[in-house]
Formats: sequence, C-alpha cells, structure tokens
Amino acid sequence: MRAGIIGIGSFLPEKVVHNTELEKIVETTNEWIVERTGIQSRRIAEANISSSDLGAEAARLAIENANLKPEDIDMIISASSSPDCTFPATACIIQDKINAKNAAAFDIQAACTGFVYGLVTATQYILSGECKNVLVVGCEVLSKITDWQDRNTCILFGDGAGAVVVSNVQQGGIAASILGADGSGAGLLEVPAGGTREPANLESVKNRRHYIKMNGNEVFKFAVKVFEESIRKIVNKANLTLDHIDLIIPHQANVRIIDAAVKRLKFPMERVVVNLDKYGNMSSASIPVALHEAISMGKIKRGDKVVLVGFGAGLTWGAVLMEWA
Ligand code: COA
Repeated sequence: MRAGIIGIGSFLPEKVVHNTELEKIVETTNEWIVERTGIQSRRIAEANISSSDLGAEAARLAIENANLKPEDIDMIISASSSPDCTFPATACIIQDKINAKNAAAFDIQAACTGFVYGLVTATQYILSGECKNVLVVGCEVLSKITDWQDRNTCILFGDGAGAVVVSNVQQGGIAASILGADGSGAGLLEVPAGGTREPANLESVKNRRHYIKMNGNEVFKFAVKVFEESIRKIVNKANLTLDHIDLIIPHQANVRIIDAAVKRLKFPMERVVVNLDKYGNMSSASIPVALHEAISMGKIKRGDKVVLVGFGAGLTWGAVLMEWA
C-alpha cells in the first residue's frame, strides 16, 4: 500500500510585476536580477488578499481534480511562510473557505520546505489508515512580509499557491522521503519581530523587523549543499540511481542554486523543472505550482520517477521520490 497524489491545483494572482518595475523602487537593474537569480517577473496579490485566499482557490481546484468533494477531505495541512496570522492556523481558515467540514486542520512551519514536510506528514496519515484524503496546501503572500526598500530580498519573492490531495493509490505513489533541519542556522533567514521573542512595538516597526531578513550568501551555500545531499540520499533510500530519475522538481529560489546543485549531481538540466523566471521564490507554493505546471505541460508521464526537493529557513530541507501513476 502506498500514498500518492490523486489531485493537484494551483492559483496565482493576476498581477505580474516585471523586474523593470523594481528598478523604480530600489537601486537595481533587470540585468542584475536576471543574471544573479534567473527571475524575470513575479505575481503579486492585491492588498485585500491573504495567503488563505490563494490557498483556498488552489485547494478547490485540487479537490475537483481528484474527483472529490470538500466533505471527503479528512485532514488539511497548510504550509506557509506568510500565514494569515500567528493563530489560528491558516489551514482552519482554508477549511472554512472551502467548506471542508469533516477535516481536521493544522499548519506546518518549515518555510520553503513546508510543502515537502506537509506531503511527508500527509503520507504518514494515509499509510497509518488514520485518514483517507489529506489536502496539503502551500500558500504565500510573501509580498506583504517583503521589505520593498531592501534590494537584497525584494527582488526574490512572489505570491501564489499550490495544493494536492494525498490518498491511497493502487499504483505508483510516494516511494521514499527524507526530512532534515539545522536550527543553528535559524538566524540566516527570518522575520525577526512579531513573535514572542521580539513582540510588535513601535521600535520593531520603525526598524522594519517584521520583514524578511536574509544572509543571502550563506543561504545560497546551504541550499546548494542540501539540494545535492538530499537527492543523493533519497535515491539511495529508494535503492535507485540518479539514472532512474526522470524529473527533479526543486524549490524555486535561484536558478544559480539549481544550476550548481545539478552540475554537482551530473544530472541533465533538461530533466529539471525551472519556472522561477515567471514567479520568483514562492516559498511553500513553489514546488506544488512547478509540479502542476510540469503535469499540465505533459512533462510527466505514467511510470515516471519524480523527485521533489525543498530547502529553506529553519534551516530545513526535505525530498520526496514518487512514481507517477
Ligand atoms: N541589485 C543590484 N545589486 C545588488 C542587488 C540588487 N537587487 N542585491 C545586492 N546587490 C549588490 C550587493 O550589495 C553587492 O554589492 P557590493 O559588492 O558593492 O557589496 C553585490 O550586489 C553582490 O552581492 P552578493 O550578495 O554577493 O550577490 P550574490 O551574487 O550572492 O546574489 C542573492 C545575492 C541574494 C541573489 C544570492 O545570494 C541568493 O540568491 N541567495 C540565496 C537566497 C535564497 O534563495 N533565499 C531563499 C532560500 S529558500
């Protein structure tokens, strides 16, 4: 018995913001952003939209794609680096919006690895027999926690959502998974204020400490290292070699991170999904959106072995190897 993805959906805000528009806000150029990150544009949500709004849209599409009804969902796991609020869980807000009244609901906080952590958690609930249909949602409105005065970070992020339904499958499904964390790197990528360590106050707002702060160079090195290691580990765990892998769908942070890791793996770049040029880094939403696009574009065939690999704040990382049915 295996767990597998039986439905998928994604939802992106309509508004496209090209790099040239960022040239008007911070001291940067389209050329710099493209050369250093591969990003050309990103989607930005309207002011009245929160992560659960995008997540609920993606969730509805995933449930429809699975040929289920919202009441068939017995658990919702939402992963977001930009949740609607500290509590309640964004998953509960999504549950209400989609009317999935039979679902338990909770959030996972693993930043950009959140979707992979959610998918692995969902798999355990399916395999234990505790749940029948688990909805995993990655949803982000990062534009609202981005410091639009900081050129080091504001060029990187975008808004969007992706969702999957995980259930028992007869064929294919999730064959292996790994998760990891190193909390000693927590300070490398964080939103410092707004929690109990540094509660919101006039000073924290004045010092812009409710926005994403990042040590880009350190995060870059970490990302390349765990990307490569995670792929090697998961392939070993599944008793396969890299030659068996048809497609890698990595977290979409920076094309140079992807290039460097893929080069170290000596894996062909044609078998790696990259869509960050259009959307930037959508944290927990990047992987499900890229997976959905790859399926829609016919890049994944029945029987293909696909590896999802995520990495991000925490520091956290994780990978899932699945056979497409
Ligand atoms: N436009 C123009 N110049 C910029 C810039 C921008 N948007 N952002 C930074 N610079 C400048 C820096 O100030 C620096 O100038 P200096 O040499 O005068 O000090 C120079 O460009 C080089 O900066 P550096 O940080 O070394 O650039 P980089 O090639 O490492 O690229 C990142 C910076 C942020 C793109 C890169 O470090 C990165 O992608 N890191 C990982 C980020 C990430 O993926 N985070 C999420 C993980 S889930």
